[in-house]
Amino acid sequence: AEDGYDLWLRYAPADQARAADISAHARAIASRTNSPTLRAASQELQRAIMRMTGTAPALAETPTAGALWLATPDTAPALPVSLKALGTEGYAIRSIDQGGQPVTLIAANSDIGVLHGVFHWLRLAQTGAALDRLDIRSAPRIGLRLLNHWDNLNGTVERGYAGMSIWDWWRLPDYKGPRYTDYARANASIGINGTVLNNVNAKADSLTAPYIAKAAALADIFRPYGIRVYLSVKWTAPMELDGLETADPLDPQVAAWWKAKADDIYRAIPDFGGFLVKANSEGQPGPQDYDRTHADGANMLAAAVKPHGGIVMWRAFVYAHDNPDDRAKQAFADFKPLDGQFADNVLVQVKNGAIDFQPREPFHPLFGAMPKTPLMMEFQITKEYLGQSTHLTYLGPLFEETLDADTYAKGKGSTVAKVVDGSLDGHRLTGIAGVANIGVDRDWSGSIFNQADWYAFGRLAWDPDLTAESIAREWAAMTFSPDPRLVQPVVVMMMGSREAAVDYMTPLGLAHVMGTGHHYGPAPWVSDLARPEWNPVYYHKADARGIGFDRTRSGSNAIAQYAPALARRLADPATTPESELLWFHHLPWDYRLKSGETLWNGLVHRYDRGVAYVADMQRTWNSLRPLVDPERFAQTQAFLAIQHREAQWWRDASIAYFQSINHLPLPAGAAPPA
Ligand code: GCU
Repeated sequence: AEDGYDLWLRYAPADQARAADISAHARAIASRTNSPTLRAASQELQRAIMRMTGTAPALAETPTAGALWLATPDTAPALPVSLKALGTEGYAIRSIDQGGQPVTLIAANSDIGVLHGVFHWLRLAQTGAALDRLDIRSAPRIGLRLLNHWDNLNGTVERGYAGMSIWDWWRLPDYKGPRYTDYARANASIGINGTVLNNVNAKADSLTAPYIAKAAALADIFRPYGIRVYLSVKWTAPMELDGLETADPLDPQVAAWWKAKADDIYRAIPDFGGFLVKANSEGQPGPQDYDRTHADGANMLAAAVKPHGGIVMWRAFVYAHDNPDDRAKQAFADFKPLDGQFADNVLVQVKNGAIDFQPREPFHPLFGAMPKTPLMMEFQITKEYLGQSTHLTYLGPLFEETLDADTYAKGKGSTVAKVVDGSLDGHRLTGIAGVANIGVDRDWSGSIFNQADWYAFGRLAWDPDLTAESIAREWAAMTFSPDPRLVQPVVVMMMGSREAAVDYMTPLGLAHVMGTGHHYGPAPWVSDLARPEWNPVYYHKADARGIGFDRTRSGSNAIAQYAPALARRLADPATTPESELLWFHHLPWDYRLKSGETLWNGLVHRYDRGVAYVADMQRTWNSLRPLVDPERFAQTQAFLAIQHREAQWWRDASIAYFQSINHLPLPAGAAPPA
């Protein structure tokens, strides 16, 4: 059944001509070694080619006519292709002539590189691309490409909308179900090379011996796929687990405890990646509780993993105390002064925006502001604020927009991508993380289309210059079929879908107006929560005269956290991108937008446009019924109906609430409430 379990690795039967073409380029798989990684690569090829063509290629030692030749310098010293600059994970794919016979060489410096090359070739095979005259070289631009699971040890997933955790902690380490291998295959296929197993809101228990053994069992499964395991840690673990009196990072006993703990972990998991830390944020303990800085805390942990080659990812998502003024400023205020103080195996992990994974946020002002510190990007793949499991809101454009944003840190062209890939400031340690949207649902991600967000994250982590559109195209071809009558309209649907959600939820730079706690659905009216920065009214600041958060000098002056060239432009509504207008400015309801309409009319118009886009997606999808299997067709059709109803709900509730404040009529031509 097409229940989505196979993700983009469906390897659907190709039509006759295409099957013949694939077979002609994969008559045999030639490989000298039988390492676990190359065995996985060969098995993947055999399974895929069998499914696409009906015939599995034979395994051979030497490259015969029409073979796929998997090679590293270890197994084939005189390779007819240069492997320079491909590093340990990159690969080359080349159509060569081997003694008069056509052969496709997939070569790399390591077995893992070969595996990545195999998945690239399979992508070509699945998407209908040419398989001859290949001359491809590819290496990842970012070193650490990680999923962050917000999975709890009790099996629930924080902000997870695809069922319970896929980690079956009860039955690990003894029972290792096949899903773990499929998870590793899917991640390796898009170049993900690490996974943080547990929630950033960590429990100390994850560092006890039984859980280390469970993590080690997973690490053993993932290792052949080039995926390392990492753990989130709770700052007070030494106190909770072993009764230490303090968790002060400068206390020698505390440092010794972490060193011993790291030694234990590395005994069980020799290639353990390192620690992820959420400290002094949302009630989590941290070094500031002992009047120490985030750098003091990070460096103490870094010293514990350093002898083993491990790293520490220290999160900059902090808002520990009340921020009556502007919560968006705290991370910068806490971290910018620490630039240059972090050990060389620490990365500071920064969310894409300064608040919290909103449908649209300006890029986080820390990007470009800490040149001496490797900054790791944190995106959210799970759609906490974007319709969760049901809304079709493809996140590729959100990721792309952030990576392409210009920080102006070193003049024009200092993009966020260049900060993250290390090229702007010359960092060799680089990373990007995506908060996973994975659970035990058959389709892994809560919907077929949510799988595209996992896929897009991995592809952009490998190469941040890829476009969201080209990624959508690949994904649609592999997930459904390479038939252009399907791919074209599906890509169009996907590409506008995130902007549509911005339109019906938070147009023109509004933010954080979602329902309290669950963050699903509209609640711009909420004003009575304990902390100022939890209340939606704190963010939109609507009053009789206008709406929006003044972050210029007359307000919180958060714009001063950006590079001067950018800050100057953001100081003036006329030179602020309209998509971020109300993020930076409080403006009168009759402020004129570029279109000539008033701010109020423009808001209403955008709410309407968002709802209409969803209706368009419904029409497009209905027209694709003949080209999609019934099961996946029906799921998407039903989810689009939910989305349409909820887009309408967002629109009506938002407009009604703002009208109760500004008493303005609906503009001529606007739809009445549903
Ligand atoms: C958001 C989210 C929390 C999460 C936090 C984090 O606030 O709602 O569930 O713990 O981000 O990133 O740490």
